[in-house]
Amino acid sequence: MTSSMILVTGGTGYIGSHACVALAQAGHELLILDNLCNSRADVVDRLEILCGTRPEFIVGDVRDAAALDKLFACYPISAVMHFAGLKAVGDSIEMPLEYYDANVNGTLQLLAAMRRAQVKTFVFSSSATVYGHPASVPVREDSPRSATNPYGRSKLIIEEILDDIHRAEPDWRIARLRYFNPVGADESGLIGEDPQGIPNNLMPFVAQVAVGTRELLNVWGNDYSTPDGTGVRDYIHVVDLAEGHVAALDYLTRKGGLLTVNLGTGKGYSVLDMVKTFEQACGHVIPYKIASRRAGDVAQCWADPSLANELLGWKANRTLKQMCSDAWRWHQGGQTHCRIQSDQ
Ligand code: NAD
Ligand code: UD1
Repeated sequence: MTSSMILVTGGTGYIGSHACVALAQAGHELLILDNLCNSRADVVDRLEILCGTRPEFIVGDVRDAAALDKLFACYPISAVMHFAGLKAVGDSIEMPLEYYDANVNGTLQLLAAMRRAQVKTFVFSSSATVYGHPASVPVREDSPRSATNPYGRSKLIIEEILDDIHRAEPDWRIARLRYFNPVGADESGLIGEDPQGIPNNLMPFVAQVAVGTRELLNVWGNDYSTPDGTGVRDYIHVVDLAEGHVAALDYLTRKGGLLTVNLGTGKGYSVLDMVKTFEQACGHVIPYKIASRRAGDVAQCWADPSLANELLGWKANRTLKQMCSDAWRWHQGGQTHCRIQSDQ
């Protein structure tokens, strides 16, 4: 039996699955807990190929205290990476109770089980959404925080809870990683983002237009005060993001404490930049029309990632072109294969 394992909640999801690959490449043994509400079990087969060994996989819910106690009793878990949660902003406005339950209660149950098991190393998926409408860019970690919807508020609440826990029990080692806009996929095309229903986020929508699932992209506003009038974001390749998690875990193991860092590239690209780069990747035109602004959107948001570079020695290296070509490879092959397999 292995000497220690990382528990990855939400490990069959988009970011969690890429983190599993990066963790395995860094030599970690993995235990995945996922209730499959937004992912498929066959991701584990793909992870087996990418990781070289099959991660342990338990179908279960992070709100299930008894199941968590059993996991901590049965496996030598040394740290937890917590990706499990709900993430659609619009749904969170319609179903706040479900969102607070999955995100806030889920995290509380997990933290309580960790304390019962005396496992105190925790890496949390926070988001640039905690900066609300940023007063200026690039956004630093000490920028004011606010929430504009229940999803964002659930992240803010959890960040505060983690702060309180660390203050009360300084032997906890906690990372709050604030992701900017994760896109792309593993270059193998075996894992990637597979949203259910109509995608809310730009890149999965562009990819679905590119494969022909959707007719055209609505560009939400071209009258922002940005170079081409469309919204500007800090898109980060999901593999760079995954590597940031390994660097954060390594930092916590060496230094301990409460770590709060932005994981972004430090560069902003517009909606039309993304469309053009995706067109180059897929080799054909992506039809779009300009529509009115989406409620709640900010004109521009990109990270100051220098703190992560300084503390973790980590930096996002992959280009916009790689983000689009890797996403395109996944959308062309991986998802179809996934569906064919699960339909059989
Ligand atoms: P995802 O939906 O692909 O992955 C989340 C996984 O958690 C899914 O596999 C789902 O089945 C599982 N899950 C959900 N609730 C669960 C529960 N109660 N118990 C067990 N498993 C559960 O989402 P993702 O994009 O990989 O996001 C991972 C984390 O990163 C989330 O916390 C999200 O809020 C955060 N985040 C995501 C983004 C983004 O743009 N994708 C940006 C910032 C932060
Ligand atoms: C959105 C969420 C944010 C969440 C993040 C996760 C909102 C208001 N914000 O952020 O809370 O943390 O996703 O990644 O939902 N766009 C289009 N057409 C589309 C989709 C998007 O033009 O069909 C534009 C948007 O107006 C924006 C850019 O593309 O300018 C990026 O949008 P999106 O991918 O949804 O990310 P965020 O708005 O940054």
